[in-house]
Amino acid sequence: MGFKEELKKYQELVNKELEKYIRKEECYENILNNSVEYSLMAGGKRLRAILVIDTYKLFKEDYEKCLPFSMALEMVHNFSLIHDDLPEIDNDDFRHGKPTNHKAFNHATALLAGDALFNQAYITISEELKRTSEKDDYDLLKRKIRAFNEFSVATDRMIAGEYLDTELEGKQISKELLQYIHENKTGALLKLSVRMGAILAGAPEKDIEILSKFADKIGLAFQIKDDILSEEGDQEIMGKPVGNDKEMEKCTYVSYYGLEGAKKELNKIIDEALKDIEQYGEKAEFLKGLTIYIRDRNK
Ligand code: IPE
Ligand code: IPE
Ligand code: MG
Ligand code: MG
Repeated sequence: MGFKEELKKYQELVNKELEKYIRKEECYENILNNSVEYSLMAGGKRLRAILVIDTYKLFKEDYEKCLPFSMALEMVHNFSLIHDDLPEIDNDDFRHGKPTNHKAFNHATALLAGDALFNQAYITISEELKRTSEKDDYDLLKRKIRAFNEFSVATDRMIAGEYLDTELEGKQISKELLQYIHENKTGALLKLSVRMGAILAGAPEKDIEILSKFADKIGLAFQIKDDILSEEGDQEIMGKPVGNDKEMEKCTYVSYYGLEGAKKELNKIIDEALKDIEQYGEKAEFLKGLTIYIRDRNK
């Protein structure tokens, strides 16, 4: 199977699994649930969820076991997007080719749909921990608690990054601070994806270390590419606005290094990331494809 086909299969798997968490029953808060579904099922690339599963599969076959954590990550990611689009943060009207949550519903509903998704991630993980604790498998429970702890810390970092990204609009900042923002607002959840997959699969510490270094790079690269696409991407393909970073005077790799400079930086980081996983050979073929996809994607 080629990379594209495999990616599609993974996306279908994630979408099918996420569907299970959508609340369909009639209730007073129906519209809130619709608003959650509107964003969660809007057609994101599912990269974080896929990274958890694929990294898990480097070490163990029974990937179904990591699905609750993988879904929880996608929930937190989508919460971050709903809030990121609000007028108080990026003030964007389109995402995934349709009106952003606050445009399709209203601001209060969008805020609360974000909150609901954020908390649903914690419900999902806590239920998984409860199930495992009833099985008396202490080692597995320990791994899951470690993953849970990393999950909450990475979410904290994403929020810190979002804060800095918003507060520093229009300011001249150092290269170090720019990298810090990217590593937190975007890198933290991508790094978490890889680390959680490895931790849940019971990977040796040395592999967790190697993969963390790899994940640091793809996390940063992912946001650099996002900066590049915000400058020269195709709005139709991306389903979200182009030129908005410039308009908001965001501190980005493009505003700091220029378009060509940002591309050079991206290529360098991707080459280094590919070297990090060379040692896993055939087994990491999809992960390699995903790394290249982060560099070459057009959405
Ligand atoms: C967009 O992330 C926000 C960033 C962190 C740059 P993605 O591009 O992964 O979002 P979706 O889920 O695929 O839409
Ligand atoms: C989004 O970053 C990062 C998070 C939501 C944590 P951006 O604001 O750069 O991403 P887009 O371009 O809106 O997807
Ligand atoms: Mg933003
Ligand atoms: Mg944004």
